[in-house]
Amino acid sequence: MLKLADPNLLRDSLFIDGAWVKPPKCGTFAVQNPANGQQLAALPLAGRDQARAAVDAAARAFPDWAARPARERSQLLRRWHGLVLENVDDLARILTAEQGKPLSEARGEILYGAAFFEWFAEEAKRVYGETIPAPNADQRLLVIRQPIGVCAAITPWNFPMAMIPRKAAPALAAGCTMVLKPASATPLSALALAELASRAGIPAGVFNVVPGGAKTVGDELVTNSSVRKLTFTGSTEVGRELMAKASTNIKKVSLELGGNAPLLVFDDAHLETAVAGAMASKFRNMGQTCVCANRIYAQDGIYDRFVEALSAAVSKLKVGDGFEDQVQQGPLIDEAAVQKTLEHLQDAVRLGGKVLTGGSRHSLGGTFFEPTVISGATAEMLVAREETFGPLAPIFRFSSEAEAIRLANDTEYGLAAYFFTRDNGRVWRLGSALEFGVIGINTGVTSYEGAPFGGLKASGIGREGSHLGIDEFLEVKYLCVADIARPAA
Ligand code: SIN
Repeated sequence: MLKLADPNLLRDSLFIDGAWVKPPKCGTFAVQNPANGQQLAALPLAGRDQARAAVDAAARAFPDWAARPARERSQLLRRWHGLVLENVDDLARILTAEQGKPLSEARGEILYGAAFFEWFAEEAKRVYGETIPAPNADQRLLVIRQPIGVCAAITPWNFPMAMIPRKAAPALAAGCTMVLKPASATPLSALALAELASRAGIPAGVFNVVPGGAKTVGDELVTNSSVRKLTFTGSTEVGRELMAKASTNIKKVSLELGGNAPLLVFDDAHLETAVAGAMASKFRNMGQTCVCANRIYAQDGIYDRFVEALSAAVSKLKVGDGFEDQVQQGPLIDEAAVQKTLEHLQDAVRLGGKVLTGGSRHSLGGTFFEPTVISGATAEMLVAREETFGPLAPIFRFSSEAEAIRLANDTEYGLAAYFFTRDNGRVWRLGSALEFGVIGINTGVTSYEGAPFGGLKASGIGREGSHLGIDEFLEVKYLCVADIARPAA
């Protein structure tokens, strides 16, 4: 049993219209700890009816929430932020228990996620309009920005405590209401956030959480005509389907989809910085991030030194239950994740890759996997084309800057890229030439609430975080005021 200072943060119901509900006809599903298979909770499996009820509640709550002064919404978001910080230890325990990541990473994620509440509490007060010089003397032209309406959010299991605030905070700051379908593997974090929203005084119906299936809850959210906006983080494959469905009633969409991030190490890179960057980018969350370095390219002159130093660092990573001290790598989320990592590993070895460290399931069993480095990776391998989403670091070789750019861009994806160099000119050349939405230069960690996050090409549409993030939840309206020269009768 998960021990919490505040056991009321562990909820086992749906959160609709400000109330915890367990509809009698719903089945249940188990939430398990991926480190040991222990059941953490049995939750009602929401269906279409519950999703519809949540959308109706959000639609009823919308006019009042949208009409509140921005300052009031801001204060409530600040309270939510404060409560997340006050409860960081319990929230971290819930996150580690259902997701597997080490407790220190879970804590880091919660602080990162909470920062979106704080950031957008401020941005709520900066939803400015515009005036436009009019073509005629008796006219005044204005632009106002208004909340789009009810939003549906579908969030992934890899960063539940960051992805939910990254969507909910700007939506609520803008004056929208939200129905959230969290990933079925990690709904407890979402429900704990709903409990804190309620304690913060976020009114009933403004934030609803409905864990359930893609074909029922997901489908209802994406087809219901009262939902005006869909925000999704997940695979490109699912994003494509959702976008097609959302087109039926022309919903606004933002999609944070898959990546296949290149990480380039040039001969002139600082070796220790490059190794630290590759470790942070590749092995955060056991390689289960959309922005993970998936393909690591090292230039001829630094290749051997880089490969040796990276393998040495990876071989020291401590694998284990995320609750244990000093553990840096927890279990993978499920057996499918292990199978995908194994498939990429075996394919790479078959095509000539050399395993330098790791190379199989971990002796701890279950879904634990050895952090792995492979040298001699080539463009023919699956790892060159597909996101592994696991702790496998393949190292490719390149000779020139032009070749590095060509290889890095040779993918349908465009979410994140990284490069390491001490040549200032190269920083600017690659900054322009790489076709990715987020580029880390001499670093493997770029995430920050004040910076825009999002991809190009098949990696998505829209941006989260930064002053741009709130725009995704606003409509632009143009007011043309005429006949102002004539005095009122
Ligand atoms: C992601 O993998 O989707 C998000 C990672 C981040 O925000 O750092």
